[in-house]
Amino acid sequence: MTIAKTAASGGPGLHPEVLAFTSSLALDKALLTEDLVGSIAHLTMLSRTRLIPSEDARAIREQLVAIWKGAQAGTLVLADEEDVHMAVEAEITRVLGERAGLLHTARSRNDQVALDLRLHVREKVAEVLGVLAKLLEGLAARAEAERETLLPSYTHRQRAQPISLAYLLCGYGAMFTRDVDALGFVLEQVSALPLGVGAIGGTSLPIDREVTRELLRFPRLTMNGLDTVGDRDFAMDFAYAAMRSLLHASRVATDFYDFASPEFGFVKLDGEIACGSSMMPQKRNPDVFELIRGKSGRAVGNLNTLAVLVKGLPGGYSRDLQEDRQVLLETGPLLTSVLSMLHLALGKVHFDKERCFAAVESDYMQATDVAEALAMKGIPFRTAYKATGALVRACQERGLPLAKVTLELAQSVDPRFDAEVLKSADPRRAVERKANAGGTGPASVEKQIAELKSHAARARAMADAVPRLAALFDSLQEAAL
Ligand code: ARG
Repeated sequence: MTIAKTAASGGPGLHPEVLAFTSSLALDKALLTEDLVGSIAHLTMLSRTRLIPSEDARAIREQLVAIWKGAQAGTLVLADEEDVHMAVEAEITRVLGERAGLLHTARSRNDQVALDLRLHVREKVAEVLGVLAKLLEGLAARAEAERETLLPSYTHRQRAQPISLAYLLCGYGAMFTRDVDALGFVLEQVSALPLGVGAIGGTSLPIDREVTRELLRFPRLTMNGLDTVGDRDFAMDFAYAAMRSLLHASRVATDFYDFASPEFGFVKLDGEIACGSSMMPQKRNPDVFELIRGKSGRAVGNLNTLAVLVKGLPGGYSRDLQEDRQVLLETGPLLTSVLSMLHLALGKVHFDKERCFAAVESDYMQATDVAEALAMKGIPFRTAYKATGALVRACQERGLPLAKVTLELAQSVDPRFDAEVLKSADPRRAVERKANAGGTGPASVEKQIAELKSHAARARAMADAVPRLAALFDSLQEAAL
C-alpha cells in the first residue's frame, strides 16, 4: 500500500511501511459518515464564532457534502492516508487547496476520533434498541398464542416443574428487557460531546463548544480534555451491554438447540431455518441456533480486547487506542444480526404441543404442588415434602406417573393425602394454581406479557429520541454559517 505523505502522517521522512503499519484507514473508513457529520458541525461552529470566514466554511461544507454524496453513490475513492480523518482532509485539499486547512482549526484527531466513536456508538445503540423492541414484541405475541401450551421447566437440565410456554417466552423476554436498561446506560455515558478539547489541554482559540454540542445534539460536554481523549469507557460500556445481550441470546439458542433434538422432540424447525448436512440426507440441523450461540462468544472476546487495550495505558491519548476500532465496529452489526436472527428464528419454530404435554404428564414434576397442597392443610412443609417424596418413590416403583396416582396408593403412603390434595398432581392445575407474582400462573403471565410490551415501547421511544446521523447530516447541510 502506498500512503500519501501528508504532514500529519509523518511527512516525507516516514518510511512507507511504517505508514502502512500505523494506518487505520482500512477499518475507520466505516466511520466516514460520523466523521463528516462531526466535521460539518465543527466547521459551523468555527464560522459562527468568526474563527474562519463564512465563505470558506461554505466552500468546505460543499466539499464535505460532496464526499458524502460520492460515498452514497459508491463513486468516492479515498486517498491512501493514515486514517479516515486525514483521508477526508486530503480529499477537500485536493479540490480547495490551502483553504481546506481551515477545517482543522482548534481540533486534533484525538478529539475528532473520540467524537466519531461516540456518534457511532449512539447510532448503533439506537439501531439495536429498535431490534430489541421487535424481539420483545415478538416474544409477547408468541406468549399470547402459547398460554395453554405446557412443557417441563428445567433446573440442572433435569425436569423441574410444569410451566406454560408463555411463561418460558416471558422468561426470555425478561432478560432482553434488562438489555434495554443496559443500552440506556450506554446512551447516557456516550452522550457527552468530546470535540473542542483538542489534543489534550484545550485550545487558545476562542471556540464555543456549546454551539457544536447543540448542533450534534449532545446533552452535555465532556469535563476534562486529558480524560476525554483517552476515554473509551463508553466503548467498553457498549461492548459490555452487547456481550450481556448476546449471552442472553446464546442461552435462548441453547434451549432451542436442545428442544429441536429428538431426545427432547419439543420443537420442529421450519424448513426455512433448518440446515442440512452435505452427507447425511435425513438431517435438519439447528445451525441458526448454533451460530447465534457461536457468534455470541465474539462479544466476550471484544469486551476483553478493549479492557486489555486500556489496561496498560497512561492518562491521555496513546496511539494504542486506534486498536479499539476492529472490536468496536464489529459490536453493533454483531448485536443487530444475532438479535434479528433470533427474532426471525423464534417465529419459525413449531412446538409439538402433544409431545410437550406428554413430557409433563409422564413425570413427577408436580410433586412440589402436591407437597404444597398438603402444606395448605396445615402440615409443615418439610413433613409434606417427605410424604410426597415417599409417594413419588412408590409411583416410580410401579412405573406410574404422578398424575395417575390413586387415592388408595397415596393413603397407603401417608393417610393425610386426600382427593383434593391429589388434584394438584394434574399438570394443568399445577400451573393454574400458581398465583404469585413472577410465577407461571395465568394472571402472572398476563402481567409479564404486558410488561414485555411496555418495555418494547420504551425501547422504541429511546431509539426514536436518539439523534440519527442521517437526520443530523440533513440539518447540518442547511445550518446557518
Ligand atoms: N487514527 C487515530 C486513531 O484512530 C487518530 C488519532 C491519531 N492521533 C495522533 N495524534 N496520531 O486513534
